[in-house]
Amino acid sequence: MRTLLSINKFLAIVALALLSCQNTEDLSLKQLHRSNAALNLSGKDLYMKHCAACHQNNTKGVKGVFPPLKDSDYFLEDPKRAIHNILYGQSEQIKVNGVVYQGIMPAVKMSDSEVVKVVNYLVKDVNKSNQIINLNDVKWVKQNP
Ligand code: HEC
Repeated sequence: MRTLLSINKFLAIVALALLSCQNTEDLSLKQLHRSNAALNLSGKDLYMKHCAACHQNNTKGVKGVFPPLKDSDYFLEDPKRAIHNILYGQSEQIKVNGVVYQGIMPAVKMSDSEVVKVVNYLVKDVNKSNQIINLNDVKWVKQNP
C-alpha cells in the first residue's frame, strides 16, 4: 500500500512536470543543475537550455500557453523588456500578436552576459532585427527592477 501511494505521488509529479513544460525530453536534471559559468554557451545554446522547454525549439511557443518569441509584436516592441522577464519572471496578463496570455514565467538563473547573449540571439538570429541590447541595459534593469 505504501509503495502504491508513493508511486502515485511520483506519477503526479511527472504529470505536473509534463503539464508545466510540454517538452520535457530535452530536460535532464544533471544539465539543469550543472553550473555553466565556465561553459561559455552561445545564445542559441542558452536558449535551448533555458527557454525552449516552454517557448519551443522553433521559438514559436504554444498558442495561448507559451507566447512566441519569433515575430512577437510584444518582444519586438522593446527587447529590453525581455531582460526584466528573464531576471524577475513574468506573470501579468499580456497580449502577444492579439492573443491573451495569463501564464507564469519563472525567473531564469543566468549571468548578465548570458542574458545579453540569449536576448540578442532572439533579436538578431531569430527575428532579424537590429534592436540589440548590451550589458549596460542589464545593469540598468537590475538597478531599476
Ligand atoms: C517554464 C516556462 C518558461 C520558460 C522556461 C521561459 N519562459 Fe518566457 N514566458 C513563459 C510564459 C508562460 C510567458 C507569458 C507570461 C505571462 O502571461 O505574463 C512568457 C513570456 C516571455 C516573454 C514576453 C512575451 C513575448 O512573447 O514576447 C519573453 C520575451 C520571454 N518569455 C522570454 C523568455 C526567455 C528568453 C527565456 C529563457 C531565458 C524564457 N522566456 C523562459 C514561460 C516560460
